[in-house]
Amino acid sequence: MENKLLINGGRKLFGEVRVDGSKNSFLPIMAGCLLAEDDFCLNNFTHIEDLKAMTEILEVLGCKINCDKASLYIDTKHSNNAKITHELTQKVRASIFLLGPLLAKFRSCVVAYPGGCNIGARPIDIHLKGLRSLGAKIIEKHGYIYCFGENLHSAEIVLDFPSVGATESLMLCATLIEGETILKNVAREPEIEDLQNFINTMGGDIRGAGCDQIVIRGVKKLHGCTYDVMSDRIIAGTYLLAGAMCGGDVLLDGAIAEHNECLLALLNQTACQIDVLGDKIRLRADKRLSSISEIKTMPYPFFPTDLQAQMMALQTVCEGASVIYETMFENRFGQVMELKKMGADIVVKGQTALIKGVKTLYGADVFATDLRAGASLVLAGLKAEGYTTVHNIEFIDRGYEKIEEKYSLLGADIKRI
Ligand code: EPZ
Repeated sequence: MENKLLINGGRKLFGEVRVDGSKNSFLPIMAGCLLAEDDFCLNNFTHIEDLKAMTEILEVLGCKINCDKASLYIDTKHSNNAKITHELTQKVRASIFLLGPLLAKFRSCVVAYPGGCNIGARPIDIHLKGLRSLGAKIIEKHGYIYCFGENLHSAEIVLDFPSVGATESLMLCATLIEGETILKNVAREPEIEDLQNFINTMGGDIRGAGCDQIVIRGVKKLHGCTYDVMSDRIIAGTYLLAGAMCGGDVLLDGAIAEHNECLLALLNQTACQIDVLGDKIRLRADKRLSSISEIKTMPYPFFPTDLQAQMMALQTVCEGASVIYETMFENRFGQVMELKKMGADIVVKGQTALIKGVKTLYGADVFATDLRAGASLVLAGLKAEGYTTVHNIEFIDRGYEKIEEKYSLLGADIKRI
């Protein structure tokens, strides 16, 4: 039976909501647990499909895993398998993060190509080129990646592009390689810093995350730990854009404002009133906002591609015109056709979308094509007049835990049917 979200739109949002733990931090950190044979407790856990998929992969690799409402417990003392098949890797792009730890620990592994949202080709050439620079022998055959690491060694590696995943893969692999590995032209996303802090809590020695050079000094052994994973900046940004779009007074608890500096700067240019108080962000909006003339997705600290679809939803109802350039992925406008069904005025040319704000969106049957496009349709439904049914919400459940319950806390009329 297909799950759908039924939204009765047009209501302002009022209330306080806690921001969940970061999906894109949890994924590499969960892979990083494989670097030691010990017990781990990861706090701020969130029950979303991508983390469930990663849990299943770790169990196949011999880990024992439990969880309660807010923590994930991982026992890697008996992790003994280094082969991951298609059935598992197809579920989540982040399966690629396992290459590094398995290679470093078992000195050989076989991993099927990763899956993930269909937002583009998502090659892994930068991951593999970096692992080869660390001395790995890699053969790609019949959809599998065969890695051999008898002669792993430290290296100085300049990434062709500041890829988040490739940066994380190489940090994970180099942690157990003797000597000093230097990574340059690395991604600077907050999730990279969270991974560095986690590995150092395990007894690793990594410096420089968040800057454009990371230095990893290899250690012989790592140990288990308890770690508080950071909050999800994309979930926080989605709430902020929902508040800006629907109007009202929204208070986010457990939000890290500096992780959304670019979004907050853009929203501050509009008629939103934003107050930051420690780990709380308050957004008030009570009238139609003016458009943001130009938005360009770029690597951190610039505007994140993971908020592009949600920002587009906001721009569809602003006063004026907005141009959105999606420079990170070649197929990340899946929400456009669906937003147009609701009355949005959007023209797409290649990686550029021109949005002319309309006064009203109208409820419709719309279909999520990927995780963030789905979130964008929820926001549009919350704003639209009448009822919106969002289909294919399994995409949304990959990255948002019980989205209907969270937005109901803010007064939205949204239910899973
Ligand atoms: C991470 O994906 C995130 N996923 C994505 O979030 C996010 O959109 C992306 O970083 C950019 O911020 C996780 O962390 C699990 P990249 P990743 O490698 O690592 C190209 C979400 O919605 N590239 O930084 O796959 C790639 O094609 C997800 O939560 C290569 O060419 O992103 C893309 O154009 C979606 N070769 C660009 O780099 C490679 O080997 C950025 O990709 C790797 C990447």
